[in-house]
Amino acid sequence: MRPPIPVLSEYGISPKYGFLPDVLPLTRLPDPYYNKWESIGANLQSLILSKRLRGVIDRLPVLSTVGLEHDAEWRRAYMLLTFFAHGYIWGGDTPCDRVPPSISVPLLDICQHLEIPPVSTYAASVLWNFKPLFIDEEIDDLDNLATLVTFTGSLDESWFYLVSVAIEARGGPIIPLMLTAVAAARQGDSVTVTRCLQAFAERLDDLGELLRRMHESCDPGFFYRRIRTFLAGSKNMAEAGLPRGVMYDDGSGKSEYVQYSGPSNAQSSLIQFFDIILGVEHRPTGEKPDPSSESEREGRSRAPKHNFIQDMRRYMPGPHARFLNDVGAVANIREFVESRAASDRPLSIAYDACLSMLRAFRDIHIAIVTRYIVLPSRENRARSRSRSPEATRNRVNLATASKNEAHKKVKGTGGTALIPFLKQARDETGEPSIETWARKFMSRQTKVSGQNDFFLGKDEKSEALDEPVVEHGLAGTWSMDEEMGGICNY
Ligand code: HEM
Repeated sequence: MRPPIPVLSEYGISPKYGFLPDVLPLTRLPDPYYNKWESIGANLQSLILSKRLRGVIDRLPVLSTVGLEHDAEWRRAYMLLTFFAHGYIWGGDTPCDRVPPSISVPLLDICQHLEIPPVSTYAASVLWNFKPLFIDEEIDDLDNLATLVTFTGSLDESWFYLVSVAIEARGGPIIPLMLTAVAAARQGDSVTVTRCLQAFAERLDDLGELLRRMHESCDPGFFYRRIRTFLAGSKNMAEAGLPRGVMYDDGSGKSEYVQYSGPSNAQSSLIQFFDIILGVEHRPTGEKPDPSSESEREGRSRAPKHNFIQDMRRYMPGPHARFLNDVGAVANIREFVESRAASDRPLSIAYDACLSMLRAFRDIHIAIVTRYIVLPSRENRARSRSRSPEATRNRVNLATASKNEAHKKVKGTGGTALIPFLKQARDETGEPSIETWARKFMSRQTKVSGQNDFFLGKDEKSEALDEPVVEHGLAGTWSMDEEMGGICNY
């Protein structure tokens, strides 16, 4: 028997807004018992700026979660406490590897309820951290959005999160649309599948336009030095000052060190949904396609392979990750299109258009990562070579970490280079294409020698560097060496 097609309401997914909640995120917790949390949230940037956040949190009493009722309240509590935790860890001259009981005790409880790790995630910074500016206007309009909490209080940080909110909102209707397509494919209804794919391709184009707007209000240097430093997780963070990770002290004296990735858009369930529904498969970096793994049955994607993208599901809210697994079991569009490729050109063209749009989205993203991480990382290294050690001696965080790690050889440690990882994900997107022209178009090789991405230009200084460099992305820790393959270090 074929598995049933997932019903969105069973996973808390909105037919209109997708993985954003149906009920708008709360702007404060209704129970006055939580006023202390709310007043820290309202003053977070000033407390970080004055370096008084740690003192305030150390004096904060351990509040119970019994006053949290509706899901929206649990989500707001999670959002606040993860912002506090990251502010506490990274908001000093050196990071602090112990999260005190006033945060840890309620946070661990809340995370169990929401089925999510006790660390800032895409859900905390994006999905549950926005409000519309005008209540009668839509939230898929980037110019109608505001954030609820940020670390820096900057427009850049708000914009960084809000571009993703708008993408999630605009992309939301694709979810029920494509589940309709799955049902239609089961019935052999090619006209409906084609129509759904055409609408999907158009929406994907909209999402690319939204992604392009990142440059409008988020400055790359500010992102690299100021925003990214607060988002850092605790995994592979030795050089940034957390050799053991972080301990969530619950006051029992038995707490142990743990390591988590920081929030990343790789944790967006929406983008993973697109891959699954279209039958796009991602392999560990450097691994070539294996024709023998192809199967004809419904839900072909899905012996889960170990790779970074798959692992990011552990950072999604539990129901969202379960939804992706269940969609994987029914995804049939690729097989349906393949089985009719010879006779149904409109269907093949609509399918290829979706792949092409998703691939184009990833291309825009690669340009962004180049501009927001690769280039500032180079500048950082060049600057650190010319700066005296005394000038930076007193500060340890993510921004100083890549400088420190620049002196380490990482070849052979199994690390993955960031841009090749993203390029592979992009190229895998085109692999299932049907039409010959589409295959040719989507398998064309973008030149990688010399790392010549559009924004990258030619950097003479970096050519003198023969050492591969480790850089912290968002969730992952990446080698910046173009030549490396293997499994990533995240
Ligand atoms: C300044 C903006 C951005 C930067 C600097 C950035 C950076 C990165 C980095 C470094 C990675 C590698 C994984 C990691 O270490 O976290 C990544 C992966 C990813 N990012 Fe972004 N990102 C940005 C915006 C976005 C947006 C707005 C989206 C879409 C909502 C997005 C979607 C993804 C996806 C889906 C992946 C996983 C790889 C893939 O599926 O192709 N990113 N990003």
